Amino acid sequence: MLLLQSLLGVLLLWPLCSLEAARILAIFPFPGPSQYINVVPYLKALAARGHEVTSVNAFPQKKPLKNFRDIPVLEVFDNYDDIITQVSGPMNIWEENNFINEFFVDTTRAVFLNKEVQETLLPPGKDHFDLIIVEALRSDAYYGFAAHFNAPIIGVSTFGADWNIDELVGNASPLSYIPLQTTGFTDRMTYRQRLTNFVDTSIAWLNYNLVHMPVQEELYQKYLPAAAARVPLTELNRNFSLVLLNQHFSLSFPRPYVPNMIEVGGLHISHTPAPLPKDIDEFVQGSGQAGVIYFSLGSNVKSKDLPVETREKMLKTFASLPQRVLWKFEDDQLPGKPSNVFISKWFPQPDILAHPKVKLFITHGGLLSTIESIHHGKPVLGLPFFYDQFLNVERARQAGFGLGLDHKSMTQQDFQQTIQRLLKEPQFAEKAQQMSARYRDQPMSPQETAVWWTEYVLRHKGAPHMRVAGQDLNFWAYHSIDVIATLLAGALFVFILFVFLLFKLAKLAGFGHSKTKKHKKQ
Ligand SMILES: *[C@@H]1O[C@H](CO)[C@@H](O)[C@H](O)[C@H]1NC(C)=O
Repeated sequence: MLLLQSLLGVLLLWPLCSLEAARILAIFPFPGPSQYINVVPYLKALAARGHEVTSVNAFPQKKPLKNFRDIPVLEVFDNYDDIITQVSGPMNIWEENNFINEFFVDTTRAVFLNKEVQETLLPPGKDHFDLIIVEALRSDAYYGFAAHFNAPIIGVSTFGADWNIDELVGNASPLSYIPLQTTGFTDRMTYRQRLTNFVDTSIAWLNYNLVHMPVQEELYQKYLPAAAARVPLTELNRNFSLVLLNQHFSLSFPRPYVPNMIEVGGLHISHTPAPLPKDIDEFVQGSGQAGVIYFSLGSNVKSKDLPVETREKMLKTFASLPQRVLWKFEDDQLPGKPSNVFISKWFPQPDILAHPKVKLFITHGGLLSTIESIHHGKPVLGLPFFYDQFLNVERARQAGFGLGLDHKSMTQQDFQQTIQRLLKEPQFAEKAQQMSARYRDQPMSPQETAVWWTEYVLRHKGAPHMRVAGQDLNFWAYHSIDVIATLLAGALFVFILFVFLLFKLAKLAGFGHSKTKKHKKQ
């Protein structure tokens, strides 16, 4: 009986396990390293499960990997250095949107112009893929690969949802409590902040539809003409099977999602930290009771390029502390380096944050760094530079596991006192531990979740049953503007009719009255 039951169980489960190995095309050409760091473990996990992954990216594997083929697009670096310096310059919102969108147009074009892409992917019928996975980041033209290969498409957003990501699956993000990333607001906004959020989002939306989409449309028609003749881009970018978000309610704030939008915040995190390299380990072990501070500004901002005055403030502060400091510094020499500071161009960040002797993380507040510090329960001092970093640092402050400083205006005293507060007052570390416990309490790891949903889409041929009907409505119908307009018109009609009748009646009554009066007088 038991045997029969388990046999039945196996039979029932069979369709789930019988998924054939799929051919997957992944497109992640963004030249900043953190985006690819975020997704590559997920792509490798798919390869390890037997799927054949072809990955268009800017950071090819150093060693060959089974079932994993790189198409390196190193051309994307050509325009990358400018964006890092220019994006912090003064711009109004329209210019800012143009600037960001132009950058993505350049990146998208670079993908289509790449020799290997042109030779192996673009010719119709040359290759086939069962699934397309793209970085959903303002690059609509290459969503065209879904039509080109007649395959379902999955988007990965490495910074969570925004209005543009929402439109891929018809998700609703009330502007009253879901802030635009770039505003730096949290989910609790004042009236003025809500006003700003509404206006900024509307401008971004208009800019995207009026300026950006026509260019993407052109690229799509130029490089994937056969697909473009069959399916318009505006249908493709509303037909995503799944969107995976590098976000989680325990990391940011709770919010609604449609069923094919799944949170996989911390996709890159491995749950088994590796031992530290020998020299770093010795330095960390030698820190005694005081412990270690880890300082890194991430992979884009170089701390060797910080103004000398800022660096001096930091060095003086570090020299005065009983803690030891690991500083990700991109030069061999750091003049005036105190003996309690260890510099290196690279650190195994997750393994360092996992170390019990590490007490504080001084960070630029990038999303991956923020998630890692929460995962390992370490308080942060945020020194944000651009984009979502301000928001991440503000959230850390709001949640109570960190504090932020403006690296441009802070004094040495600010820096020193903030570090001491974070180390001495226990609530910061306690809050970080609590956040960590909440974040880790999930039925499957983010990576397992991502793989499971990806295979779900494969098993159910694009899983069209998850797609909300809102995706087939136009703008007016979706927002019920047509209905509201009809009701308003109806109400207006009734009101006018009422006024008209009242006027008529009054006139009639008045006329009749005076008439009778006149009549009586006679
Ligand atoms: C939308 O996606 C589904 C599932 O992948 C697919 O069957 C359908 O053809 C797509 N429609 C368009 C217009 O691309």
